[in-house]
Amino acid sequence: MDPPKIFVERTLCILKPDAVHKADEIEDIILRSGFTILQKRRVQLTPEQASDFYVEHYGKLFFPSLVAYMSSGPIIAMVLAKEKAISYWRELIGPTNTIKARQTHPDCLRSIYGTDDQRNGMHGSDSFQSAEREIRFFFPDTITEPIGMGQAARDYLAKAVNPTLLKGLTQLSKQKPLDPVVWLADWLLENNPNKPKVKDQGIV
Ligand code: CDP
Ligand code: MG
Repeated sequence: MDPPKIFVERTLCILKPDAVHKADEIEDIILRSGFTILQKRRVQLTPEQASDFYVEHYGKLFFPSLVAYMSSGPIIAMVLAKEKAISYWRELIGPTNTIKARQTHPDCLRSIYGTDDQRNGMHGSDSFQSAEREIRFFFPDTITEPIGMGQAARDYLAKAVNPTLLKGLTQLSKQKPLDPVVWLADWLLENNPNKPKVKDQGIV
């Protein structure tokens, strides 16, 4: 039997105009929930772009006001990555209607950051197909295939990288430098177990 594969999925998250002023706070929650933010753009859609994005709702009663709302101010589009990112992000944001969400899912993000049944704070792709289309809408150059992580890749990382990385991360969290990424990069170069050991006389 093949070992199970871990699939990192990508999904599109939009902070809608009524939630953009809380962007820092929401991004913090996103990161603490285990997502990686792969891409981020702040844009203001034209009404034409907003209609195009929500084309599946064309003809519905709420469509014109949805388009007006989504083009009324800047929004922040982000590509989020995580195992099962699509369903997990939908779960975190909660039901579409903020008013109802406050009754049934008081801890969900729409309940906290949304305003009403239309201005509900954020968007999340609802399927793999829509995630692919929506990511491409905002980030046309992205590759959206899921990244499969097989046993061989996990074994390789476990053997070749994780032990050193773990030591580096332990030191990093003790020292808490101002620029953690540069600090870790320097530490890894300095402590690379594959680096030839240089002695006074030369390489041994
Ligand atoms: O965003 P979600 O996938 O949860 O809901 P949707 O049914 O795909 O609707 C898209 C967006 O249209 C919602 O997020 C609301 O902003 C808006 N909407 C609305 O204004 N009035 C409704 N009755 C339903 C949705
Ligand atoms: Mg939808």
